[in-house]
Amino acid sequence: MTDFPRLRSLGTLHRLALTLLCLVLAGGFAASASYLQIKVSGRDQVKGMSLDDVKGTYHGIRTRAPLLMALERNHPETLPAKDRETLIKWLNGSRITEDYDNPDLGDDAPAEIIARNCVSCHGRNSQDAQGRKLPLEFLDDVRAVAVSRDVSPNPVEAVVASTHAHAVSLATLSMLLCLLMACTRWRGGFTGLVLAVHGLGLVCDIGGWWLTRHHADLAALIVAGGVAYFATSGLLMLMVLAELWLPARDKA
Ligand code: HEC
Repeated sequence: MTDFPRLRSLGTLHRLALTLLCLVLAGGFAASASYLQIKVSGRDQVKGMSLDDVKGTYHGIRTRAPLLMALERNHPETLPAKDRETLIKWLNGSRITEDYDNPDLGDDAPAEIIARNCVSCHGRNSQDAQGRKLPLEFLDDVRAVAVSRDVSPNPVEAVVASTHAHAVSLATLSMLLCLLMACTRWRGGFTGLVLAVHGLGLVCDIGGWWLTRHHADLAALIVAGGVAYFATSGLLMLMVLAELWLPARDKA
């Protein structure tokens, strides 16, 4: 292989400039991470960051509340029809927390209906071994299975805009990192592997945005690709910095 010039042999100010630009780049990556935290977490209408947030963003999530599904499949058979109707109406409405034990509703308040018809099995001290696993005694118990989710994915135009911005800028950045690495003392198989994972990570991340539109499970590809791309970017930057400032090694 033709020998590329080594970064270490550049003048001090030149190396300082490259170092400062690496720092700005690291700052940019940190900002991307916190942008994700702010923008994507909570996207699945549940607190905290999870795979469902990524699914919600790129595929959308539509799930029906387990409580609603149980009632609609006529569970439990002992529930009076009028109570079932009241519960279904309540679960399809937007006042799940507010009306749960609304005193104006009297005996028709969902909390009352559930206490009468469900807690004998769905109580923490119930004799029903299976029912006990899903206690429905308190609002928090009930709310965990009462919410239907309908999360729309980002519109296609937004994904096009994001792809156009990220694909062009990140691929350019990564090409530059590849070139910079060619001017370091580390050009063996390990660096090759890191660079290959770096490229693959970006393909999986951005490609995953589009594939996940069709298959929700491919959200994992976005996460794996993103993590691989982030981690290898950090590693490559550290290697560039080390090349810039570690004492020059005798040319092998
Ligand atoms: C006689 C005992 C009994 C009563 C009364 C009862 N359940 Fe259940 N429930 C069970 C058992 C056992 C299961 C687990 C097996 C199944 O899904 O049918 C279950 C499962 C469920 C599930 C989970 C279903 C799923 O898809 O995972 C929900 C939600 C539920 N019950 C809600 C209720 C509500 C609401 C009431 C009152 C209106 C109620 N249950 C009354 C015994 C009971």
